[in-house]
Amino acid sequence: MDLNRKRVLLTGASGGIGQAIAAELAAAGASLFLVGRSHEKLEAIRSSLPEPDRHVVFPADLTREADLERLNKEGNRLNQSGQGIDIVINNAGANEFNFLSRRSAVSVRQELDLNLLAPILMSQLALNWLNRPGIILNIGSAFGGIGYPGYTVYCSAKAGVYRFSEALDRELDGSGIRVLYVAPRATDTDLNSPVVKQMNQELGNRSDSPQTVAKVVVESLRKETTSRWIGWPEKLFVRINQIFPTVVTQSIRRQQARIHHFIELINSGKL
Ligand SMILES: NC(=O)c1ccc[n+]([C@@H]2O[C@H](COP(=O)([O-])OP(=O)(O)OC[C@H]3O[C@@H](n4cnc5c(N)ncnc54)[C@H](OP(=O)(O)O)[C@@H]3O)[C@@H](O)[C@H]2O)c1
Repeated sequence: MDLNRKRVLLTGASGGIGQAIAAELAAAGASLFLVGRSHEKLEAIRSSLPEPDRHVVFPADLTREADLERLNKEGNRLNQSGQGIDIVINNAGANEFNFLSRRSAVSVRQELDLNLLAPILMSQLALNWLNRPGIILNIGSAFGGIGYPGYTVYCSAKAGVYRFSEALDRELDGSGIRVLYVAPRATDTDLNSPVVKQMNQELGNRSDSPQTVAKVVVESLRKETTSRWIGWPEKLFVRINQIFPTVVTQSIRRQQARIHHFIELINSGKL
């Protein structure tokens, strides 16, 4: 899709990857509908973009039904006024690195709500008002393709988003709406706590800049690429994990002691 003059609804716009996507899309000539919980943060992003008046902010908590309903109303209103949204990017996300046994049921539910249910419900709403041709692009994770200790809930949510994207894209085949998936590996943003960053460094897990992810997102939109897994060797591990999961299990087993060490540090409050 040519992105010039397209209207893009971007969730998680105030985060590390969201800001980079916003900058790339604005530079490509798109107008942005920036969604996040903090009005102040969204306004700061909007005013940092070229031609700020072309973009709008919409504070909303995607785990709240009332806020999703407000988004739905606004989507319908824009559509009826001839200013409909062309692209929805479900990018908001959060995670907690910990053993499942140490997590509260509330935190598990919240993580699933934001990372899995919110993109599903946003996509469902978008079907009411998205322009045709239109695109829904869901941001996943390498952890959606590889189960990793300490991230059980996040892995299940992102794996769900991957299958959801695949199924909806097939369901909408021929409708004028594409559903795409982009899976970053570790990326340098505040999503990862200092402990997680230190662990990744020690384990030799590479990470990308948010700008690298944003460029892949924009390229995926332009080429309408069904799914993209960012980073080498992670994308190879995702494939191996599908065919020979025990190979990946053995590789992660070698990291297990360090992973447990860092989770214990978090739980002891020493870091
Ligand atoms: N960073 C990584 O290593 C990495 C790797 C793979 C995939 N990803 C995925 O990339 C996406 C962006 O992550 P990021 O690294 O940019 O994270 P981030 O910097 O922590 O940003 C998260 C964004 O989500 C928004 N958000 C959080 N809770 C929300 C809620 N309840 N309702 C609405 N918005 C909410 C935050 O805005 P407010 O707090 O202002 O609401 C913020 O804009 C996520 O889906 C993440 O899972 C990240």
